[in-house]
Amino acid sequence: TRHLLGIKDLTENDIQLILETADNFKEVINRPIKKVPSLRDVTIANIFFENSTRTKLSFELAQKRLSADIINFAASSSSVSKGETLIDTVNNILAMKVDMIVMRHPYAGAGIFLSKHINAQIVNAGDGAHEHPTQALLDAFSIRQKYGDVAGKKVVIVGDILHSRVALSNILCLQKLGAEVMVCGPTTLMPRYIKELGVKVEHNLIKALNWCDVANMLRIQLERFDIKYFPSIREYSMMYGLNKQILNSLDKEITIMHPGPINRGVEITSDVADSKQSIILEQVENGVAVRMAVMYLLASQNQLA
Ligand code: CP
Repeated sequence: TRHLLGIKDLTENDIQLILETADNFKEVINRPIKKVPSLRDVTIANIFFENSTRTKLSFELAQKRLSADIINFAASSSSVSKGETLIDTVNNILAMKVDMIVMRHPYAGAGIFLSKHINAQIVNAGDGAHEHPTQALLDAFSIRQKYGDVAGKKVVIVGDILHSRVALSNILCLQKLGAEVMVCGPTTLMPRYIKELGVKVEHNLIKALNWCDVANMLRIQLERFDIKYFPSIREYSMMYGLNKQILNSLDKEITIMHPGPINRGVEITSDVADSKQSIILEQVENGVAVRMAVMYLLASQNQLA
């Protein structure tokens, strides 16, 4: 593929190649001289129609480590506010001789739509409640780093599965790598098609945590729905919030993940987020090497399926 629009389009071999390439880049960026010339003469535009801290900065740093030329576009400070369309916006950016677009957009399928109308490589940095492929890849990389392999691991994704692009991309990626995946949360925050994805569904947090090796705690995506139709934050936190007391009561020591941003005291308490069982900041660190691998493979060799 010319693009990375979703984990759905990748084979297991593609994912393994990305993880192995990321191993090499992780070694490179831990050296005193972190920069490599791999993407010299490649120009990349980061276009963000939705806010981001980790994804935006980590793509930007990954591009700088690869020696790409980069330009950044934030919709909120652009001519989108004057009515310019997505296709016009991107075609105007491409007229400046840009090779690759990294895009975050609030609408599911925005990257797929754009790929049919423009002539550049596209990396999806999150499209609405659909997919966030590089997040799933860095999550898989982090599990593999912790356990040596993703295959055979039991991973539970807890929380707002319905509105989460991280959940869908993680489910697809972990399954392709041979992990067992469970989702846990209230019925109101589960998509109706969840069973079709071949995951276990559990509504009891303690049972889910006692089953898993790894728990990925998601934030409630309040920006994507009206809370009055769902459990209140207080109810959610009482039923599905992970605190130290629960963690210490489990049969075994599990690993805690979170894609960020954290709502401390809602889905996870600070003593859990900052505990030695948490690999939340390792996930962020690994994001740079994984994104370097994705852009390198797409731009220089087109090696993905
Ligand atoms: N995990 C993640 O996508 O974080 P940001 O929204 O800050 O990029």
